[in-house]
Amino acid sequence: MNIRPAQQADLPAIARIYNQGIEDRLATFETQPRLPSDIGPWLARIDRYPLLVSVDADQKVQAWANVSAYRERDCYAGVGEFSIYVERSARGQGVGAPLLHALLQSAADRGYWKLLSRIFTFNQPSRRLCSACGFREVGEYQRHARLDGRWLDVVIVERLIPQNQPVQSEV
Ligand SMILES: CC(C)(COP(=O)(O)OP(=O)(O)OC[C@H]1O[C@@H](n2cnc3c(N)ncnc32)[C@H](O)[C@@H]1OP(=O)(O)O)[C@@H](O)C(=O)NCCC(=O)NCCS
Repeated sequence: MNIRPAQQADLPAIARIYNQGIEDRLATFETQPRLPSDIGPWLARIDRYPLLVSVDADQKVQAWANVSAYRERDCYAGVGEFSIYVERSARGQGVGAPLLHALLQSAADRGYWKLLSRIFTFNQPSRRLCSACGFREVGEYQRHARLDGRWLDVVIVERLIPQNQPVQSEV
């Protein structure tokens, strides 16, 4: 397994893996599949918002993770929201944890002081992953939004990022 910044050639794989996550209804309120061209703009902003991929020994993309803006206000410039998606057939095999750790390090290198996310309460793999990577569960938003007409609750997770030192690996 190798983790590196995403490149143009990775866009179809990133879109495909994202669409699996959308289809599975486990990870996001999004319901519209993405095209590679929808992901392209993320690459243009990679200096500010890291986008990493994990590739296997054959250089096939197995997973991606990124940071996006939490809020546009300047005071929140160091707070990032993260997403992580692992190819269906590669889940539960230890791909996600090193990728999320690498994303934390990328965020630290860019001066972020916190990453956070919201996870469906029933998404145990994601909650376990976050716990394994040093995130704490802050609390729950109830009836946060509807997915396919069903109200869902989400758990807020955060991890503070130490400044000027390597991110401690919990994995
Ligand atoms: C959530 C996800 C990113 C985790 O990545 P992964 O590669 O499957 O996770 P890993 O194999 O690195 O395991 C990380 C932790 O999760 C646990 N885990 C993984 N799959 C699990 C499962 N199906 N059930 C329970 N725990 C699970 C592992 O045991 C490990 O915890 P531990 O260190 O305490 O043992 C991946 O399953 C995925 O892409 N799911 C669909 C999209 C998604 O939910 N993304 C997150 C959106 S918030």
